[in-house]
Amino acid sequence: MTKKLLATSVAMAAVLGMTSAASAQVVVKYAHVVAPNTPKGQGAEFFKKRAEEILGDKVKVEIYPNSQLFDDDKVLPAMLRGDVQLAAPSLAKFGKWTSKLGLFDLPFLFNDMEAVECFQKGEKGQELLLSMADKGLTGLGYWHNGLKQLSANKPLLTPADAAGLKFRIQSSDVLAAQFEAVDAVPQKMAFAETYSALQTGVVDGQENTWSNIYSQKFFEVQDYITESNHGLLDYLVVTSTKWWDGLDPEIQAGLKQAMDEATEYANGLSGKLADEQRQLIVDSGETELVKPSADDVKAWREAMKPVWAQFEGDIGADLIEAAAACNK
Ligand code: LMR
Repeated sequence: MTKKLLATSVAMAAVLGMTSAASAQVVVKYAHVVAPNTPKGQGAEFFKKRAEEILGDKVKVEIYPNSQLFDDDKVLPAMLRGDVQLAAPSLAKFGKWTSKLGLFDLPFLFNDMEAVECFQKGEKGQELLLSMADKGLTGLGYWHNGLKQLSANKPLLTPADAAGLKFRIQSSDVLAAQFEAVDAVPQKMAFAETYSALQTGVVDGQENTWSNIYSQKFFEVQDYITESNHGLLDYLVVTSTKWWDGLDPEIQAGLKQAMDEATEYANGLSGKLADEQRQLIVDSGETELVKPSADDVKAWREAMKPVWAQFEGDIGADLIEAAAACNK
């Protein structure tokens, strides 16, 4: 072989090598609906950083926040089509796929985030990660956002204060029943539409975490926030079983490690962000925080408690019992 020919074939081999390395790169699209300055937004960024540190250019993680790629109704069908690889819808948004995760929407099920951790890390919580195996979806972990607060243009100290008001809810039949139990009118609505629905009076109120109330600026268009801590808004990080199981074992192990680390990071951050963002809402002076008395809380609990029996058949008494047993 002449020197020139040799040089050409070496160059060609290098180009071919580069092409095959580039085509072997796994692109992981992670779509979510919240802002980057939230526990989920921060967790997703952390996952990207760690996955790319662990696996180098074998993977590229692309994060799409703020419903840029899909809203929560569209993201799971898109995942099964292969258009997105990771998402973390709220646990309230899986009703079309499994009735079991409706557990997490039961009002006053968990007294605090320690009880939530206890259940999610326990046997039943871990089993629920695979509750959609028959639908081709695998849960990779739970991420916290936190406990929900009620907001409206009036203080909601007792259940009677909510009667007749329209509340925006996530797409969950359990949450619809929760508001019907206090004679309010629930309206399922995409997260991205909520601010303008509150602003224009299409709905009167909503329930969400401090982080979402702050980052979506709901506090600017609601005169009162009632510190009700009446329910949970947490996430299931989910992927397509076919895509996940089809990954090269080294890539899968690296992504799993990055996900486990991101789970710990996001869950460690959520309580801190909730406290900080609650304070920023107070400092804004745009809304007033009100706190129900212990008797008022008891009245809310009693009014909403029938929802547990209403959904016990769909969810499973064993799951409800295991979750309630985590309250110390
Ligand atoms: C909502 O729709 O209120 C939440 O599920 C949004 C989110 O992802 O926190």
